[in-house]
Amino acid sequence: MSMECFVFFGVLTFLLTTNRADALDCLLGESCVLPCSFQPGAEVIVHWIQLADSPAHSYYHDQDQLGHQNPRFSGRTSLFKNQISGGNASLLLSGVKVEDEGRYKCYTSTVDHNKETFIHLNVYAPVSKVELHQDGNTITCSSEGVYPKPEISWSTDPPSNQNLTEKIKVQQIGQLYNINSSLTSVPDVEYNCTVSTGRNKMAATLFKQTSLSGSSAETTMRCTSSKSPPTGLIWRFNHSEVIVSDGSVMEKWRQQVKSVSMSGNLTLKDLSTENDGIYTCELRNADGTYVTNTFLGIEHSQASARSGGEIAGIVVGVVAALAVVAAGLVALFKILRKNKGRREKPQVISSSQVI
Ligand SMILES: *[C@@H]1O[C@H](CO)[C@@H](O)[C@H](O)[C@H]1NC(C)=O
Ligand SMILES: *[C@@H]1O[C@H](CO)[C@@H](O)[C@H](O)[C@H]1NC(C)=O
Ligand SMILES: *[C@@H]1O[C@H](CO)[C@@H](O)[C@H](O)[C@H]1NC(C)=O
Ligand SMILES: *[C@@H]1O[C@H](CO)[C@@H](O)[C@H](O)[C@H]1NC(C)=O
Ligand SMILES: *[C@@H]1O[C@H](CO)[C@@H](O)[C@H](O)[C@H]1NC(C)=O
Ligand SMILES: *[C@@H]1O[C@H](CO)[C@@H](O)[C@H](O)[C@H]1NC(C)=O
Repeated sequence: MSMECFVFFGVLTFLLTTNRADALDCLLGESCVLPCSFQPGAEVIVHWIQLADSPAHSYYHDQDQLGHQNPRFSGRTSLFKNQISGGNASLLLSGVKVEDEGRYKCYTSTVDHNKETFIHLNVYAPVSKVELHQDGNTITCSSEGVYPKPEISWSTDPPSNQNLTEKIKVQQIGQLYNINSSLTSVPDVEYNCTVSTGRNKMAATLFKQTSLSGSSAETTMRCTSSKSPPTGLIWRFNHSEVIVSDGSVMEKWRQQVKSVSMSGNLTLKDLSTENDGIYTCELRNADGTYVTNTFLGIEHSQASARSGGEIAGIVVGVVAALAVVAAGLVALFKILRKNKGRREKPQVISSSQVI
């Protein structure tokens, strides 16, 4: 067997055994149970060691023995005491840290047997939120507090030949990673950004901008039709000013916001052309983030704007109406005068008859 071959099989065996020695994924900051079992017997001894050589927890003489424990584990380890006699030597590790990552040995012994079990602990902080923000025509996709190191990728609809892997920035704060990527957007393209770690991934989508011609009295703009219920919702104006954020309406917009529906649609009222602009809905749910831009133009209504022509028409109308009224009054006056004459005449006749 050649040296390469030997090394290859050595590595393969190592990988297989470490993989079979069970990988355990533990969520950063949470509690995690490292499983270990043995054949019950008298005089139980348990040693949990993070390899190489960091004592995590020991138990013998029917009690915890923490004199040699590495201080990194202080106050964070315990065994399931009432289950030890039944052969359960699992370790409960709380407040999981990145340093807890690695291979562990669980050594157990009784008067009759002893046993070693290995487990590989992986720590992760999943991608929990992906943000997509627009500033002019620069769009930035970002995520924070991820472990291990995340990756970011873009896709577009229709597909583009733009280099979408430029300008990726990764920063490590403490042990966690922040990542972002910016690109210059072009109209009529849908952008999809995905942030992933080996463990999970989450996407953010920027839909194509649509236009809406709204009524000044009341206008509803749609957010997005998402399957899962929203866990976060922000409406913005012209990419910067916040209108509504997670259920609270900003002071400046109280007069205009009529309602926000369960699905995130925003209904505005009492609008004028000053409210023309781009309205952005950023909705988050379990699947990701959805960003929808709507250009709203308020329709010119009779109450707020009249053209010169309309005004002239109105003046002519009013004058005409007045003329009709005047003519009517003149006619009425004439009739009244005639009637008066007629009414007097019989008097005259009668008087003449009397005469
Ligand atoms: C040991 O007991 C704990 C607590 O009941 C349980 O979560 C764990 O699965 C048990 N482990 C084994 C190996 O039986
Ligand atoms: C895109 O940009 C990245 C980073 O500048 C570079 O590594 C990659 O080769 C580029 N890809 C193409 C297809 O030009
Ligand atoms: C992107 O990340 C870099 C490095 O972490 C940071 O300096 C920059 O402000 C971020 N940009 C945006 C737009 O978030
Ligand atoms: C975005 O891209 C990811 C990865 O390719 C995919 O799983 C997801 O469905 C896409 N989302 C949308 C809305 O296109
Ligand atoms: C409001 O949202 C729902 C669900 O997404 C959608 O079907 C409906 O068309 C929206 N209404 C308006 C007026 O946009
Ligand atoms: C909002 O944006 C629109 C179009 O870009 C612009 O015409 C309008 O003046 C902006 N409104 C405010 C208040 O900045």
